[in-house]
Amino acid sequence: MPADRHQLSPAALLTLPAVTLLDAPITPREPWHGNDAMIVPVRPAPQEKSGRVGESRPVLAGQGADVAALYDIDLVAEAERADGSAGSPGWTATVRLPRTLPDAWEPVWVDLPGTIVLVGIGAGRPEHWRQAGLAASRAVAGLETAALTAGTDLDADGLRSLAEGFALGAYRLPRNAQSPAKTKQPAEKLTVIGKVDGSETAVRRARAAARATWLARHLAATPSNLKNPAWMAEQAKALVAAAGSRPGGKLSVEVHDERWLAKHGFDATLAVGQASATPPRLVTVTWQPRAGSAPSVALVGKGITFDTGGLSLKPPQPMIPMKTDMAGAATALATVLAAAELSLPVTVTAVLPLAENAIGDSAYRPGDIVTVFDGTTVEIGNTDAEGRMVLADAMSWAAATLDPDEIIDIATLTGAATLGLGRHHAALYSPAEDFAEALSGAGRASGEQAWHMPLVEDYRSSLDSSVADLSHIATSNVGAGSITAALFLQHFAAGRRWAHLDIAGVGRNGSGSMELPAQAPTGFGARLLLRYLEDLAQS
Ligand code: BES
Ligand code: MN
Ligand code: ZN
Repeated sequence: MPADRHQLSPAALLTLPAVTLLDAPITPREPWHGNDAMIVPVRPAPQEKSGRVGESRPVLAGQGADVAALYDIDLVAEAERADGSAGSPGWTATVRLPRTLPDAWEPVWVDLPGTIVLVGIGAGRPEHWRQAGLAASRAVAGLETAALTAGTDLDADGLRSLAEGFALGAYRLPRNAQSPAKTKQPAEKLTVIGKVDGSETAVRRARAAARATWLARHLAATPSNLKNPAWMAEQAKALVAAAGSRPGGKLSVEVHDERWLAKHGFDATLAVGQASATPPRLVTVTWQPRAGSAPSVALVGKGITFDTGGLSLKPPQPMIPMKTDMAGAATALATVLAAAELSLPVTVTAVLPLAENAIGDSAYRPGDIVTVFDGTTVEIGNTDAEGRMVLADAMSWAAATLDPDEIIDIATLTGAATLGLGRHHAALYSPAEDFAEALSGAGRASGEQAWHMPLVEDYRSSLDSSVADLSHIATSNVGAGSITAALFLQHFAAGRRWAHLDIAGVGRNGSGSMELPAQAPTGFGARLLLRYLEDLAQS
């Protein structure tokens, strides 16, 4: 069997749809003609003051009226005819223009794009443009190119969201099958017709954010017969090499193997990985800007390449999605690459503790006492609480050796986070109110929301152990699994400015939103963290 028989497309080769701006009027002889589709943004019918219903109509935004005039089609009437609530964010209606017979009279649209997509933009807020971008992306799938008339209705924030949404909707899961995919191929190019100040930066940032999300999804979606700690390390090396030399700084990668880990006291990571045929790795990827006094952030991502639960074995059903248990590591990696892509003046180090939580006669056991990098001894209560063990090593190592101003860890850590918050908010913990506020603000701006949860002091004693410094799960039943996990991690931040994102709920998709099937990895966190780093660079 050839060695590459089951290889998926390398992460370094993912190609996003292109987004370009074109400042041109809507006339019959313009360069946007060659597009397969024309996308017209639509606002909902304005609320009527008189309270009478049914009289106000949806409004064509951008140069929609010019498009209607050019095609000689009443697009407002088309919007009203379509299903759903015309103009609401993410609503679309597609008008496919008929092609005529050879000797028929030629309609005016004969040389114009043959598909018109009406897309709702609600009140035109950035999050509405993101939804519009996603919906437009879905509506034009199967076609190659599309133009969107924005006119002067779009500012830089709106454009960024639109471009981001369009690119996110173009992501397709890696597929390894002999039959072609049932989902239509995404469009290759979006031309935004209009004039936007700062468009270049907006599009650059949108693409960096979308590329990061794509990468995080792609890595998490890769099955664990391909994806082991060494494979993740190879991906990191290949991605750094593919990024090439960056202006304004230096991007570098280091891979440490199991011998290095043993020599340096990463016993917790080694314990988690010791039943696996593929031993642990520690990978660091660093973006170091040339700018002298940049703030520095360590992004520590949980990298369990498969989580069986170990001897505290998971039941079959909950084990199914556990190839995504390295989503935190994937997100941290994608974020540092995006920071380099944008040459942000922030020092960022992604720290990726990678291990497979397997089961076997060499597995670590409940009752074992394991010494973390910083010397803390931990009594193992449940081998399925492996994420906090590898994070404990990596966080305390980062605190001791990288001297970061801030540590952010991101992890698919607890089922309890999903129970509490569902699939739309990550559980965010930080003892620093302003830090939590900055992160949840970045969450709101990026569309990846995080909810600030309490580090309840009273629960801390539930982690007391009679035989070690700490118990790694709560021994008394305080019933707050995501909080007690966060309290455990806090110990390993060594008093530094620290925040924790539990993405167990948001890391995988619920029922088919964002163009992703249920259970597909969302890449959650890359856009939030990138936005946070952009804000930090500006402050
Ligand atoms: N990887 C899981 C958490 C998880 C659950 C992620 C569902 C995504 C979806 C984690 O390692 C785990 O097993 N956590 C345990 C902790 C418990 C043993 C204290 C859990 O949440 O049940
Ligand atoms: Mn587990
Ligand atoms: Zn896990």
